[in-house]
Amino acid sequence: MSGACKLLTNKRITVYVTGGIAVYKAADLVRKLIKAGADVKVAMTASAQEFVTPLTFQVLSKHDVSTDTFNEREAQFVNHIHLADWTELAIVAPATANVIAKMANGIADDFVSTALLATTAPKLIVPAMNQHMLENPATVRNLASLKEYGYEVMEPATGFLAEGYEGKGRMPEPDQIVEAAQHFLVQQTKDLPLKGKSVIITAGGTKERIDPVRFITNDSSGKMGYSLAKAARNLGAQVTLISTTNQLPIPFGVAFVPVQSAAEMEKAVFAKFNDSDIVIMAAAVSDYRPKTEAAYKIKKTNEDLTLILEKTTDILARLGKEKKHQFLIGFAAETNDVETYAKDKLARKNANMIVANDVSQANAGFNKDTNEVIIYQPQLDPIHISVRSKDAVAEEILHAAINTLNL
Ligand SMILES: Cc1cc2nc3c(=O)[nH]c(=O)nc-3n(C[C@H](O)[C@H](O)[C@H](O)COP(=O)(O)O)c2cc1C
Repeated sequence: MSGACKLLTNKRITVYVTGGIAVYKAADLVRKLIKAGADVKVAMTASAQEFVTPLTFQVLSKHDVSTDTFNEREAQFVNHIHLADWTELAIVAPATANVIAKMANGIADDFVSTALLATTAPKLIVPAMNQHMLENPATVRNLASLKEYGYEVMEPATGFLAEGYEGKGRMPEPDQIVEAAQHFLVQQTKDLPLKGKSVIITAGGTKERIDPVRFITNDSSGKMGYSLAKAARNLGAQVTLISTTNQLPIPFGVAFVPVQSAAEMEKAVFAKFNDSDIVIMAAAVSDYRPKTEAAYKIKKTNEDLTLILEKTTDILARLGKEKKHQFLIGFAAETNDVETYAKDKLARKNANMIVANDVSQANAGFNKDTNEVIIYQPQLDPIHISVRSKDAVAEEILHAAINTLNL
């Protein structure tokens, strides 16, 4: 079970590299896939080798790089079929207009196109080309054909093209391709514990407006919530991420709802609550907001300025009151007496789990990339999760919930 989040661990992935200027990014993609635990092999077209030599990919992947259909070094098998059969996920990145056309039409005239025609593995295509090539009706038709065949086609990014002007056609960043690969594998994998489950996750500190240019907020970065969204997605859930921040990349395959204030967050959570199975309140919701929001910027006039604050709705408590079948997870960010506050919160809010962290610790809490938490559940022993990345903490929290829910 604990490996279920780690979709790429030991996954046999072949990256097919074709001849676009974005080949340099494919080297980083290979590195990131390996870092995520995958066993990666690379095949390159002749054009791709005009940009980067196979040696780069050989060193990164620690495998020979396949380039030539007729370079049959091992007598016991045919190289391109052997690679095609070995592959559990094929990623074509960057995918040129040319290789897309070949794949759409079943052409097999070099190692890459022949192995791609021979492999039955799921295929993730990452087009990268000049905007006019992308918009050419032939390319549009070819990409539509690939989608029809069941291949996953990533949307090219918009930005500064190698031709020296802004346009659509850039290869997405390697991190996004790894994300897309994970999401694609989730769709292909049937027996994930959260398959068919709907999970709501809130993230970030709410912003309570004082006037059009000022607000009250807190130090929450939203990182824990985003890690939870990725982990829940990787476990097969349909995730809705309700977030106050737009600073972090939105996890691939997650429904994103941007909000600002506690009141907006409450509305967004309750719009989905009835149809949800698990709700994780990882956001730092402001306890108070200005009683009135000034319509215009408040001017500097008096020596003192008094702001009257009123309580916001306690979203977790309201969820606890209204919950039916839902499994409710809250967070307790404390600076002292963590255990007492967390246990009290568990009972008072009618939650199924409280994840407590001591935000005064150097390696835990707001804005950090790591966290250390203790998971409290009614009638169960606390679970201590020692310091690790927020992604890894998120996986542990979800595994604890899955265990309790017996999924
Ligand atoms: C400098 C340069 C950059 C290129 N960039 C791209 C590109 O980004 N996308 C693309 O589809 N073709 C690009 N091409 C054209 C392809 O390299 C060409 O169509 C080639 O035949 C593709 O071969 P392959 O698909 O076998 O790799 C580029 C060519 C050059 C000379």
